[in-house]
Amino acid sequence: MYKDLEARVAVITGAGSGIGRACALRLSQEGCRLVLNDIDAASLEATRALLVAPDLAVGLVADIGAPETADELAALALQSFGALHVWVNNAALVRWGQVADCRNDDWDAVFRVTLDGAFYGIRSAIHAMRGNQGPDRGSVINIASGAALAGEEGLGAYGAAKAALVNLTRTTAVEHAREGIRCNVLLPGPIATPGMLAAATQAPGGVAGWEAQTVPGRMGQPEEIANAVCFLASSQASYINGASLSVDGGVSARTNSPRFNQTAGR
Ligand SMILES: NC(=O)c1ccc[n+]([C@@H]2O[C@H](COP(=O)([O-])OP(=O)(O)OC[C@H]3O[C@@H](n4cnc5c(N)ncnc54)[C@H](O)[C@@H]3O)[C@@H](O)[C@H]2O)c1
Repeated sequence: MYKDLEARVAVITGAGSGIGRACALRLSQEGCRLVLNDIDAASLEATRALLVAPDLAVGLVADIGAPETADELAALALQSFGALHVWVNNAALVRWGQVADCRNDDWDAVFRVTLDGAFYGIRSAIHAMRGNQGPDRGSVINIASGAALAGEEGLGAYGAAKAALVNLTRTTAVEHAREGIRCNVLLPGPIATPGMLAAATQAPGGVAGWEAQTVPGRMGQPEEIANAVCFLASSQASYINGASLSVDGGVSARTNSPRFNQTAGR
């Protein structure tokens, strides 16, 4: 538990599923007031119903890729709870396709939600967080991906948008450090969310076969990302700014070279 998170106000985008939902549940357990966003109304309401304090959460069904949504979320936080302390840029869009075949509208759609949406969120968050007092005035947490670190077949647009998000995190961090506003980025590895499980089902051997290839031999759970989000949101992380934290069970620590001993580490 992070005592300082009690009564803090957090915005989470893409809160209707997977990692966003886990962040909402965890921050709710910590006593946060929540402003939840998703493009899907039913999913968002399902998340709200699972919270320990649904009455301390408000929702906005809207597309975070639309330029006005982030400002509306910030305004809703101020109007409903009087402040804004934490912003989790979690919503993203994946469109599979090789770079050579990537259509302009697919490229634009991925960047619009994954990068533009996060940029709008960062900007709105900073303006609202400037209204807070004290040394730790706000924490922005961007959810990127291990795909930001290396190439992955079929994920050209998504990986490029996530890599740009990592850089945007760093610039935001250095520009606002002296205002007491921090900005960090998480790079999840494979996490067992509905979308990821659906993709892994297509792999040879299904989910189990796919998991067996990973360094830890399993996918992460959404709660394991939410744990890192909570830490970065809290003042326990007051001197962590501009950091890129892989939460991937060690996946990104391994080279992709052919292995000499296939049984080592099992
Ligand atoms: N699951 C993984 O293995 C994994 C790995 C690396 C990074 N990530 C990142 O973690 C984040 C969450 O992923 P997830 O697996 O929980 O996804 P998910 O598909 O389970 O949930 C994403 C949520 O975002 C919402 N959403 C989509 N477009 C939106 C929009 N335009 N506006 C508002 N909401 C929108 C969806 O309705 C959904 O509820 C994403 O940024 C993703 O890139 C996930």
